Amino acid sequence: MNSTSISLLLIIVSALLYVQAGRVGECRTSCVERNVQRIVRVHLRDNYVMVGACNNATDAQKAGGVLAGELPFESIVTPYICHKKIGVWTIDELDQEGIAKFPVRCPSVDQVSQERIASCPN
Ligand SMILES: *[C@@H]1O[C@H](CO)[C@@H](O)[C@H](O)[C@H]1NC(C)=O
Repeated sequence: MNSTSISLLLIIVSALLYVQAGRVGECRTSCVERNVQRIVRVHLRDNYVMVGACNNATDAQKAGGVLAGELPFESIVTPYICHKKIGVWTIDELDQEGIAKFPVRCPSVDQVSQERIASCPN
């Protein structure tokens, strides 16, 4: 295996561990997913957790959002960032990928109770 595939493997393994644990420090997965969007990628750097949250594209987005020469898309992934000691998720304006469109639909979200969501730091 070359170093790219090894680091990719590490990212996937840490993403799986993260999703199983459901949180890193104060950053809870359910607080960004909120029963409506699904985390599909995770990066950890210093005291920050960075994720991509997937929303299925609406018909209106599909009708209005396909740019010339672009492939049709089924989902939109938005980058979010959270400080481990604070636990508040915000859209990551500095993410290199930014808001990205994908040709496949999102996985389903693990539903949590409204109480869990109401207890998220904000
Ligand atoms: C996206 O759509 C698929 C298929 O319709 C559905 O199973 C999935 O739960 C949806 N995911 C989200 C995050 O809405």
